[in-house]
Amino acid sequence: MNRVRKPLIAGNWKMNLGGSKGVDFAKECVQIARACPGVDVAVFPPSTVLARVAEVASGSSLHVGGQNLHEKDHGAFTGEVSGPMIAETGSTWVLVGHSERRQYFGETDDSVRAKTESALRAGLVPIVCVGETLLEREAGRTLDVVERQVLAVREVLAQHPRPLAIAYEPVWAIGTGKVAGPAEAEEVHAAIRAWLSSRDPGLGNWTRILYGGSVKADNAAALLGCANIDGALIGGASLDAASFGAIARAAQALTA
Ligand code: PGA
Repeated sequence: MNRVRKPLIAGNWKMNLGGSKGVDFAKECVQIARACPGVDVAVFPPSTVLARVAEVASGSSLHVGGQNLHEKDHGAFTGEVSGPMIAETGSTWVLVGHSERRQYFGETDDSVRAKTESALRAGLVPIVCVGETLLEREAGRTLDVVERQVLAVREVLAQHPRPLAIAYEPVWAIGTGKVAGPAEAEEVHAAIRAWLSSRDPGLGNWTRILYGGSVKADNAAALLGCANIDGALIGGASLDAASFGAIARAAQALTA
């Protein structure tokens, strides 16, 4: 971590904690955010419960965001949710291009760019997710793949000078218990920052680059201790107040 950038600890609930369970859990997340003032704590609930979670978080330091958005603002797109609709719930963030969206729902670099534009148009802060598959890593193509994914959105991000975030999530580490080692992750994070900085030093300096993929309470501190890792995007371990809170506190301790 680097003192210039406030650490960001983000919980991606995926298709879990809909309804009142999500609302109750959000109350615990408000307490976690309150206990960690040096950290931005954010949760990404399913869209069915987004408005209610945003209401719970309102007036607190907990940030709330959607997990996905459609690239158009409105129209005949059955089943989809747009950036303005997410903003109307009181949410201020959105995940874009998560690997599960790329893998199972056909999202491409082009659609991720369009969704990033749409998020920024709606006034939302996007967390753009990038990362290589196991096959790509084994073929030695990690940096090529991640560079292509970052360059697909770089121009859009450069035109919106405000705190933005990218999440580096190696696909092989998501939900598998396999975590990239701190040095392995840091190499990719440093490369991402260099690609952003070469377009605009401010963009490189201010963009928070999160690591994601099997982050748990016991590996968070080592990852967050790396110079270019500014936070974490957490799936499984964000569904439990004890583990999510422990990760947020690990980030808070590093700001002291
Ligand atoms: P995981 O998920 O922490 O369960 O590996 C991370 C993510 O998909 O954002």
